[in-house]
Amino acid sequence: EKMNTPYDVIGEKKLHLLVDAFYRRVGKHPDLVPIFPSDLTETARKQKQFLTQYLGGPQLYTSEHGHPMLRARHLPFEITQTRAKHWLACMEEAMDEVGLEGKIKEDFYARLYLTAQHMVNTPENEM
Ligand code: HEM
Repeated sequence: EKMNTPYDVIGEKKLHLLVDAFYRRVGKHPDLVPIFPSDLTETARKQKQFLTQYLGGPQLYTSEHGHPMLRARHLPFEITQTRAKHWLACMEEAMDEVGLEGKIKEDFYARLYLTAQHMVNTPENEM
């Protein structure tokens, strides 16, 4: 018998709305804008694929791009603790905007928090 994954609970439609709401914020955030491309269309497309599989849905990211190797893929960008904090704040606001709430939100956010810490690759004072 198949368990319901967080992806099943959230659903594709809400996940896509979440990613779009998230990158709208990233694209306006003064501390995040400098490291992101000005056109976030492709970034958002990849993030939808990635978060689908991260939440237990189909392996859309890996099928197209191979192993995520997220920390390695983030090494070209200076990711400080402050940027991780701002990334997470954009995500939490986006969750609120699309009406993701309760345990599903808390669990998802808690995982993203840990993954975000893992992406930090630059001490604050090297900025
Ligand atoms: C790509 C920044 C955390 C998943 C990127 C890119 C930047 C970035 C600048 C490249 C965008 C592009 O060239 O299209 C950050 C910052 C983070 C963070 C500042 C703060 C800690 C995370 C987390 C996840 C994640 C927590 C996953 C849960 C991805 C994915 C991509 C990406 C899937 C696309 C990789 C690819 O090019 O195939 N991120 N990121 N990021 N990020 Fe992050």
